[in-house]
Amino acid sequence: MYIAHTIDDLRRHLSAFQSPAFVPTMGNLHAGHIDLIRQAKPLGNVTVASIFVNRLQFLPHEDFDTYPRTWDADCAQLEAAGCDVLFAPNEKELYPEPQTYKVHPSAALADILEGHFRPGFFVGVATVVMKLLTCVQPRFAVFGKKDYQQLMVIRGMVKQFALNTEIMGSETYRAESGLALSSRNGYLSADERTEAMQLSLALKTMAAALKAGSHDIAAIEDQALHTLTTRGWQPDYMTVRCQADLLPPTLKPGAPLEPLVLLAAAKLGSTRLIDNLEINP
Ligand code: PAJ
Repeated sequence: MYIAHTIDDLRRHLSAFQSPAFVPTMGNLHAGHIDLIRQAKPLGNVTVASIFVNRLQFLPHEDFDTYPRTWDADCAQLEAAGCDVLFAPNEKELYPEPQTYKVHPSAALADILEGHFRPGFFVGVATVVMKLLTCVQPRFAVFGKKDYQQLMVIRGMVKQFALNTEIMGSETYRAESGLALSSRNGYLSADERTEAMQLSLALKTMAAALKAGSHDIAAIEDQALHTLTTRGWQPDYMTVRCQADLLPPTLKPGAPLEPLVLLAAAKLGSTRLIDNLEINP
């Protein structure tokens, strides 16, 4: 695996390749990230990953400083997965001066849900992804559906800026318990890790109610919030939305369900977890 720490070196190395397939990450890689590498491999003629913990997408009180950095283990996992190139710039390389030009995604999509609870988050994500895409110039880039709203924000950005990159969404990789793998799972105590599966269970319960014909979305959401709160969680949202725009659906009695997605964000102790579940009619 070729490791490039600078944009110049990366560009020099990639100039020989027509169609890179790219997986951007913040490191602390787990099986979910490696699954994205596996999805990327057959897409292009060179597989590129990046590791960069992007300060712009962390709020001042969030875990930028303590975000787990596991360089040696990350490199070993990428090598084993057959990743060809790793782009690992330091902060000075990617942000040599304050990044005052930023990408502001559509507020209708980026200021709700995660964007409501983490103001500026998607500006930080869109800005760094724009910059990484400019550096790598991939034909394909693979993102996880685990970060559902993020994937939609990136799709919108690539479409509106006519970037020459096809965005592929990859299914959420889960532990046997149902818990979606996440770098932040490492913050959980053993007891919390057992409890953490309740988030995906709550989503399944919401899905079952909808599939059983309940159209009372407020009741379904309230029940999920209540269940988690009673178990000691602090939920930010447990909500039913349309896959198309992440707005609340209007369910008409007797009408077929439109494609929906259930989105969850909740704190367990001091660890904030997110998850989601698509419901396709
Ligand atoms: P990070 O959290 O490291 O995630 C990198 C990619 O892995 C994202 O596309 C994310 O959705 C995907 N991913 C994480 N957990 C997953 C799982 N359990 N199953 C499938 N895919 C999973 O997301 C980011 O980094 C950053 O915001 C980034 C896009 C790199 C910009 O800084």
